[in-house]
Amino acid sequence: MKILVTGASGFVGSHVAELLAERGCDVAVLLRGSSSRAWLKDLAVEVREGSLSDSESLNRAVRGVDRVVHVAGVVSYGLEQPLV
Ligand SMILES: NC(=O)c1ccc[n+]([C@@H]2O[C@H](COP(=O)([O-])OP(=O)(O)OC[C@H]3O[C@@H](n4cnc5c(N)ncnc54)[C@H](OP(=O)(O)O)[C@@H]3O)[C@@H](O)[C@H]2O)c1
Repeated sequence: MKILVTGASGFVGSHVAELLAERGCDVAVLLRGSSSRAWLKDLAVEVREGSLSDSESLNRAVRGVDRVVHVAGVVSYGLEQPLV
């Protein structure tokens, strides 16, 4: 079974991708061009470049995929000033 993991450059998604790969799944990860590969460098995963905000790249990314584990999300907007 081919599984696509979004958010795999991030904290949660990298652990999900690692766990699935360790369990013998055929794992692809959705990464942006700017995404860090640091947490994935030792994993046997296929990189599919794309962005959640680019539907064409998403269509390409899900080609041949049986399941998607969607972990990507915006966690912080990087506010430089405290809110209060
Ligand atoms: N960490 C926790 O303790 C925790 C607890 C409960 C729930 N969650 C939820 O789990 C999700 C992931 O959290 P996290 O801590 O793993 O966050 P994170 O380390 O900041 O990772 C966020 C991931 O989302 C990706 N992403 C954001 N916008 C994207 C887009 N437009 N297209 C493709 N990828 C995109 C990021 O890619 P780039 O590397 O390219 O930016 C990154 O891989 C969030 O929804 C968060 O609210 C987290």
